[in-house]
Formats: sequence, structure tokens, C-alpha cells
Amino acid sequence: MRALQIVDLTGPAEALSLVDLPEPEPSHMLSGDRAAVLIDVHAAGVSFPEVLQTRGEYQFKPPLPFVPGSEVAGVVRSAPDGAAVKEGDRVAACCMLGGFAEVASAPDFLTFPLSDKLDYAQGAGLVLNYHTAWFSLAIRGRLAEGETVLVHGAAGGVGTASIQVAKGLGARTIAVVSSDDKEAVARDAGADEVVRSDGPWKDEAKELSGGGVDVVVDPVGGDRFLDSLRSLREGGRLVVVGVTGGSIPEVKVNRLLLNNTEVVGAGWGAFVMSKPNLNQEIGEELARLIEQGIVRPIVGARFPLERAAEALELIDAREATGKVVLDVRDA
Ligand SMILES: NC(=O)c1ccc[n+]([C@@H]2O[C@H](COP(=O)([O-])OP(=O)(O)OC[C@H]3O[C@@H](n4cnc5c(N)ncnc54)[C@H](OP(=O)(O)O)[C@@H]3O)[C@@H](O)[C@H]2O)c1
Repeated sequence: MRALQIVDLTGPAEALSLVDLPEPEPSHMLSGDRAAVLIDVHAAGVSFPEVLQTRGEYQFKPPLPFVPGSEVAGVVRSAPDGAAVKEGDRVAACCMLGGFAEVASAPDFLTFPLSDKLDYAQGAGLVLNYHTAWFSLAIRGRLAEGETVLVHGAAGGVGTASIQVAKGLGARTIAVVSSDDKEAVARDAGADEVVRSDGPWKDEAKELSGGGVDVVVDPVGGDRFLDSLRSLREGGRLVVVGVTGGSIPEVKVNRLLLNNTEVVGAGWGAFVMSKPNLNQEIGEELARLIEQGIVRPIVGARFPLERAAEALELIDAREATGKVVLDVRDA
């Protein structure tokens, strides 16, 4: 099969090589002795971790060479007994690694039926971002109907997903973005309000929310963090999802004490990997929102498999919007 490997750690432009590899066995490091789901990959999602992996900067460091690609959409070739999907089903799956290839294996508990309402490219943007958004908002952020959510990096993968999941949970959203193009994407994703990261977004968020937001979803970190804390109302929760902004913020805990606010970590992978049922429950919640037309992944740039380096460079340059996707085979 055709696949892309990371062969060295020189960064997104040079680290990838197109190779011919044997197809994977129906096994997966997260499935133990149980068989995994084998998938004919139609589209593969590209995310920030793959950029970091080309530099050896991601926390999970497989030995070189390896096939990156944490999520795919395609058609099931084989599935173990008892799985929620079967041969011939259209699916979206998180495979952790190996997605930049014509065939990938994924654990059955991270493989989900793909609604006819979504195409393969949208399916390739479903698991990582939307499960993270649900986990961050509903589980870690305890978002309630009628609350207001401030979403940083709102035109990005996690950001657009968070806007839609927040909407599905009955919340109002204020998106923070850095450019006109990204503003258009956040609006297309369904944001109720959009403010600019280079403007007085904290004051605007307080005004738009009538005194402070209930939840902040923060995949950016960096120098946004302090004003994010300041934009919370009493009882507000700042959910830490990532640090694309580069620097890792620190918090003076007296701020939390004085304002009765919380900073909450949301590491989706680490939490859900050992909880197969929780994954399927989140999948069912998202399926409901897909059927209601609230969840519909926003696909940005698309590249054929062999041009994956361009996809990674786009993310690295902060120019990506929505989900960046590799078309692995013709629809
Ligand atoms: N916790 C979890 O379980 C989990 C799961 C999935 C992803 N993540 C993490 O969440 C983060 C966002 O992922 P994503 O897929 O949404 O990424 P993305 O699509 O590239 O979006 C990230 C956004 O961050 C903003 N940003 C601010 N400063 C930036 C900089 N210096 N470089 C790049 N972007 C910058 C950009 O928005 P503006 O230009 O509008 O500011 C950009 O749209 C990543 O760190 C990823 O590893 C965490």
C-alpha cells in the first residue's frame, strides 16, 4: 500500500517520505489481544501533533521510521465480533498512528459509524476534534444549557468543533480569532459572536456575556491566558486544551481564590483510552448532534496524500482553518 513515513526529524517540509509498505495486520497497541478494525482509508485528518512529530517534539515519540496520522475516515474491511461497526460500513476512527496510508487499523472502541450526512473528508475531522470538544465542554467544563462559552483559536480544528458542540449543549458562543478569513470560518461554524485576538477581546467578551463568560475553551495558551481568567464570571471554568501559542502559562492561584473560578485540564486521549464505553457514549452524543445538523466538521485545505508536507506547513504557519485533510483515495 502507499503510505507516508516520517523518516527523520527535520520538520514538516523534509521529514516525510512516500513509501510502499505491507498492509497492517488487524491489531492495535490499544486493543491488546483483541482484533482491531481494518479500514480502507479514503481521507486522513492532519493535526498539530503531526507537525510536532516531524520535529520529534510531540510527547509520543515512536521509533523512526513510522507512519503518522491519528485519524481517518473510510470503509471497514474487517472488524472483530461485538464491534459497533462491520465490513463495508463507512466509519470515522482514531488510529493514533498509521493514518497517512491506504489501509489503517484502529481500536474498535475508537471507531464510529459515519453518518450519510458527512463525507469522508468531514469524517476525517470528527474524532479527535469533536470528541475533544465534547470531553472539554460537557465533561471537564461542566457546560450547562444557557451558559456562555469563549472559544480561542476558534477557526481551528478544536475551535470550530467547540463552537458546534457548545451550541449542541445549548450554550452561546463567543469566538476569538486573529484575521478576517478566520472570522468568516468561525461564523460559518456557527459562532454567535466573533471578537479579534488583537483587539480588546476580554472587555468585549465581558460585555457580550453580561459580566463574564461561564467557560473558556483554550487550545492556545500563551499570553491569552491571564485575560481569559479575567473574562470569567464567578464560578467560571477555564478549560486548558492545548498550547499552540507556544508558551505555557502559569496561574497565580490567589486569582482563582478571589474570583471563585477554576482552571481545568482536558487531556482527551489520556482520559478516554482506558474507558471504551465512554468513547462510544460520546460517539452517540455526537451522532445525535450530526443528525440534528449542529455538528458538521468544517473542512479547510485538502491535499492528496503525497502532498502532506504542504498540509503540515500550512498548520505550522498558523494559516490552517477548520480541518486540514489528505485525500488518500478517490471518493
Ligand atoms: N487536550 C486534548 O485532548 C487535545 C486534543 C486535540 C488537540 N489538542 C491540541 O489543541 C491545539 C489546537 O489544535 P487544532 O487542531 O485546533 O489546531 P489548529 O487547527 O491549527 O488551530 C489552532 C489555532 O491556534 C491559534 N494560534 C495562536 N497562536 C498560534 C501559533 N503561534 N501557531 C499556531 N496557531 C496559533 C490559531 O488561531 P488564531 O490565529 O485565530 O489565533 C489557530 O487557528 C493543539 O495544541 C493540539 O495539540 C489537544
